[in-house]
Amino acid sequence: MVRAKPLRDNFGRLIDYMRISVTDRCNLRCTYCMPDGVQLVPAKQILTFEEIVDVCRAAAKLGIRKIKITGGEPLVRRGCPSLIGRIKEITGVEQVTLTTNGILLGEYLDALLDNGLDAVNISLDTLDADRYRKMTGCGELSFVLESLDRAVKSRLRVKINSVLQKGINDREWDDLAKLAQNRPVDVRFIEIMPIGCGKRYETVSGDEVLAALRGKYHATERELSVHGNGPAVYYRIPGFMGSIGFISAVHGKFCDSCNRIRMTAEGELKPCLCYGESIDMREILRSSISEEVRDDKVCEAICGAVRQKPAMHCFESKEQISEDRQMVQIGG
Ligand code: 5AD
Ligand code: SF4
Repeated sequence: MVRAKPLRDNFGRLIDYMRISVTDRCNLRCTYCMPDGVQLVPAKQILTFEEIVDVCRAAAKLGIRKIKITGGEPLVRRGCPSLIGRIKEITGVEQVTLTTNGILLGEYLDALLDNGLDAVNISLDTLDADRYRKMTGCGELSFVLESLDRAVKSRLRVKINSVLQKGINDREWDDLAKLAQNRPVDVRFIEIMPIGCGKRYETVSGDEVLAALRGKYHATERELSVHGNGPAVYYRIPGFMGSIGFISAVHGKFCDSCNRIRMTAEGELKPCLCYGESIDMREILRSSISEEVRDDKVCEAICGAVRQKPAMHCFESKEQISEDRQMVQIGG
């Protein structure tokens, strides 16, 4: 196979990772995401699996190697595992992973494994069942913990994403970190980004959590190996099976190593999470032109989104953030 030339943006960053939201629906109502729900997009405006696969094929031709399926909650869309299987078959795609809140993961785990899922990120902010229900609007913690353990047992690579909120769950950092003690999972602490309802919350900085971690586990050591697609910085605690990661989007601007573009469930290509600009892929996908011309246009649109990537986000000055939708509408 002829490998695509690496895809680079105007700042020389290698773009080989695409996050694709497959739905704006979710079975939870997390406080910092969409406590009161959102105006849902009519189903016919959501890209079909065929359309998503076509975009992935074009992206792979251009040099995208790794694809993350997100939502909303991706597993509420029927057929999600088979979509993963279809994307895995595309020449050039090396890895397909999934971000989920874990509620339905146990139910779909076998189908996901059968379809070749490479890894899963489970969002989990608290280990207290009542707090979980409050923080997620309605979630049942035991479903997530069972899914987590089943996923670990099946030897799927698992990462846990934890968002800490001041005065709500920040004291749980150690209990959450300890999920990595006897399980080969990475636990990552993510700073709340000022997107949508996230703007209302004060984030706990990664540095604060790291200081607490070092205070308790003196032998904590920075790890230099790369664990995945992302910007997390990892630490090892001796005796722990997994590592502890920090995704400090606000306090630790990591834009110089940004490697990604995003596509919303409606088919809008987003060069950066922070800004409202997007390229309408659905219009291209549904226009009545020949398949060949259409494929060229899809490729052009992807290259356009890569070219439009800004040098960095502006989360530190909220008035400049031009993305006004909720995370669930964009794809976290
Ligand atoms: N800032 C940071 N993370 C967020 N998530 C949702 N909204 C925000 C936000 N404003 C997280 C969820 C989940 C992932 C998909 O995105 O907790 O882990
Ligand atoms: Fe759903 Fe994720 Fe938003 Fe929570 S953060 S409501 S799980 S999309």
